[in-house]
Amino acid sequence: MITADLTGRKMLVTGSASGIGLGTAELFARLGATVALNDLAGNPLLESEVARLRDAGHRVLAAPGDVGNAESCQAMVARAGEAMGGIDYLVNNAATPGTTSIIPAGDLERQNEEFWQRLLSVNLMGPVRCTAAAAPYLKKSRGAIVNTASISAFAGGGSSSVYCATKAALVNLTKEWARGLAPDIRVNAIAPGWVAGSNWECKWTDDFVADLEQRVPLQRPGTPADYAEAILFLCAGGAYVTGHTLVVDGGLTA
Ligand SMILES: NC(=O)c1ccc[n+]([C@@H]2O[C@H](COP(=O)([O-])OP(=O)(O)OC[C@H]3O[C@@H](n4cnc5c(N)ncnc54)[C@H](O)[C@@H]3O)[C@@H](O)[C@H]2O)c1
Repeated sequence: MITADLTGRKMLVTGSASGIGLGTAELFARLGATVALNDLAGNPLLESEVARLRDAGHRVLAAPGDVGNAESCQAMVARAGEAMGGIDYLVNNAATPGTTSIIPAGDLERQNEEFWQRLLSVNLMGPVRCTAAAAPYLKKSRGAIVNTASISAFAGGGSSSVYCATKAALVNLTKEWARGLAPDIRVNAIAPGWVAGSNWECKWTDDFVADLEQRVPLQRPGTPADYAEAILFLCAGGAYVTGHTLVVDGGLTA
């Protein structure tokens, strides 16, 4: 595991009451950063995880808010930025599959207008809103953004075509923002593959997991700590890396 001294750094991680976001918040807090954990106000894990991290002596705060709602999202980023006295790192990680089981690409009835609007608003406009609201802070700190995309951005195979499309757009926006916000802010993404230890709403079937077990060269799912380490490199290291999407998938798409 790589390490860094992040004392004095301030970060905001969206969707961090569980999974990759929580693993990232925990790693950065352990390395000395002050971390604002965002998640939906109704998610009881947000308060309990913040309390657990605080009891462990870390500098963390809860930043409840819905990234799928413009007003709530902007207010959440502003509150977090004010409370911490700035933002060095923004991790746009919150997303939803909008379904508990995989929707076949050809099922256009379930992938209706309402479904599109919901996923676009959370998975794509969420990062757009957070980036816009955090940009003044990040410019001042010459900070970094990491977007959580997905390997489904490149070759499909996600929970729905709509989900894949939102992640593909996020990979594209990562390059757009890298150019547009340079030289003050570096912008990168990670593309996770198989994830273990998260609360992801779309549950994979046993057959799907058995297939992954066969196909992933490193023969195991990625843990939140695996993904957090990649995010750490892109935030606290990688001084000459921007516009890049780092595939972190145990070799699945190799
Ligand atoms: N689990 C997978 O198979 C997988 C694979 C590739 C990429 N990803 C991506 O990784 C990221 C993290 O997912 P995870 O696997 O850790 O799942 P997770 O469900 O444990 O974490 C996602 C968090 O986002 C929160 N969230 C959802 N909508 C929100 C909103 N509107 N506002 C604020 N918070 C919201 C959820 O409450 C949850 O706590 C997501 O961007 C996801 O698309 C996941």
